[in-house]
Amino acid sequence: MKITAIVGSVRRNSAGHQIGEWVAEQAEFATSELTDVQLDLQYLEDFDLPPVTSEVVPMAQDKQYDDERVARWSQVIDSSDAFLFVTPEYNHSVPGTFKNAVDLLGSEWVGKVVGFVGYGFTMGARAVEHWRQIVSNFEMHDVRSQVGIDLATALDSDGKVVVPEGANAQLKGVVESIAKTAQKLEN
Ligand SMILES: Cc1cc2nc3c(=O)[nH]c(=O)nc-3n(C[C@H](O)[C@H](O)[C@H](O)COP(=O)(O)O)c2cc1C
Repeated sequence: MKITAIVGSVRRNSAGHQIGEWVAEQAEFATSELTDVQLDLQYLEDFDLPPVTSEVVPMAQDKQYDDERVARWSQVIDSSDAFLFVTPEYNHSVPGTFKNAVDLLGSEWVGKVVGFVGYGFTMGARAVEHWRQIVSNFEMHDVRSQVGIDLATALDSDGKVVVPEGANAQLKGVVESIAKTAQKLEN
């Protein structure tokens, strides 16, 4: 089973990149009690995705994209069994660029499992709540537990993110819920 973690910030030097590195570091621990589960990391920034326009996303064409950036994004999402959205909170909601990346695709998301790592000055809680509404349109299965990183305490004096120790176990719990939910759906 492939769980793809998507770092949804496209800001250069973002906190998200550091949190993504932490997810990658923790991948082995987070999946240690699971069999055949792989946690991969993707940075949304690397896809350089265009906005949703009628040229890029013509109606009623499933998984057919002329734009090669979107085609590559589609392939990555389509080949994943489940997702971990690593999401900042922007203006009490999800980042527009991350939402655009989700909007670009369709059936690639449908029915799959998703969990969340939120971060911000209220642990990204409002962004995660909005994500839960958004993914319901694809009949995705969102796991209840989530990781919340509070930047009010996790940023050191140089602006570096120091992920609190307790988050390791939280992340493991979310990854395990994602894998168990996906396995249940498969059976
Ligand atoms: C456009 C914008 C809006 C933001 N709005 C919020 C907000 O509503 N709530 C919050 O807790 N943090 C907010 N922040 C602060 C972000 O949580 C913080 O800058 C975080 O580092 C952003 O993630 P990133 O660095 O990975 O892009 C906002 C930041 C930006 C850039």
